[in-house]
Amino acid sequence: MINSSKDNPIGIFDSGIGGTSIWKEINSLLPNEDTFYLSDSINAPYGQKTKEEILNLSIKNTEYLIQKKCKIIVVACNTATTNAIKYLRKNYNIPFIGIEPAIKPASLHTKTNTIGILATKGTLNSELFEKTSSTISNNIHIIEQIGEGLVELIEAGQIESEEIKFLLNKHLQPMIDQKIDYLVLGCTHYPYLIKSIKEIVGESIKIIDSGEAVAKQTKNILAQQGLLKLKSLGLPFSIFYTNKDKKVLEKLLKDSSPTSIKKIDF
Ligand code: DGL
Repeated sequence: MINSSKDNPIGIFDSGIGGTSIWKEINSLLPNEDTFYLSDSINAPYGQKTKEEILNLSIKNTEYLIQKKCKIIVVACNTATTNAIKYLRKNYNIPFIGIEPAIKPASLHTKTNTIGILATKGTLNSELFEKTSSTISNNIHIIEQIGEGLVELIEAGQIESEEIKFLLNKHLQPMIDQKIDYLVLGCTHYPYLIKSIKEIVGESIKIIDSGEAVAKQTKNILAQQGLLKLKSLGLPFSIFYTNKDKKVLEKLLKDSSPTSIKKIDF
């Protein structure tokens, strides 16, 4: 294990700004922890890339956070988790927390036996997603939908644009027609669309994502490894690095008071 102490920060990365939805959960559950967030926005979306490209970018992000002396790395990206976490766990001596679409809980609670999942192409086509889907009972019908175009618009800060609402309608209507009662958000960018999604799917379809579960798992693993920081002497820091324009991150984090948002060449 890399020589870590409780005082080292938690490292979090995503292809872009979507993983801040996970950072918010982690920061609220673990308020004493310092955090470094890496947004590889220049390379977003990962969802359209090959497995090899996603793997190489995930390695680069991991090494950046290791060099920042992070004690644990949260892969706050379904696409990177499903394509790279196996490799990362095998090759780096540091705990990793990943995020996968919550199809399992949805399949256990559905009454219509039909659930929908909205995720990137890279996630839906991954071996890990296929493996997880194969553990779901055959009685459950899973409707998979690639969220074509959504990540690009979110990265451009167009969260409530007409264009995004048009795309959401197009992606979600077939699922509504097939009577899903659970919609799984399989991309960390999508929680930012919940308001618009609710306007389309209504109250009877439940929306679930894995953010809270990831924060709990991060806490459990830190506790198990003796790395949980229970008290902070000063004010904990939260530093965000992005290799693209800072503006969208600043807007998303305006209520979270980050310590700083820095533009880096990466
Ligand atoms: N936020 C990411 C995910 O959870 C990746 C989106 C993308 O870059 O395509 O899948």
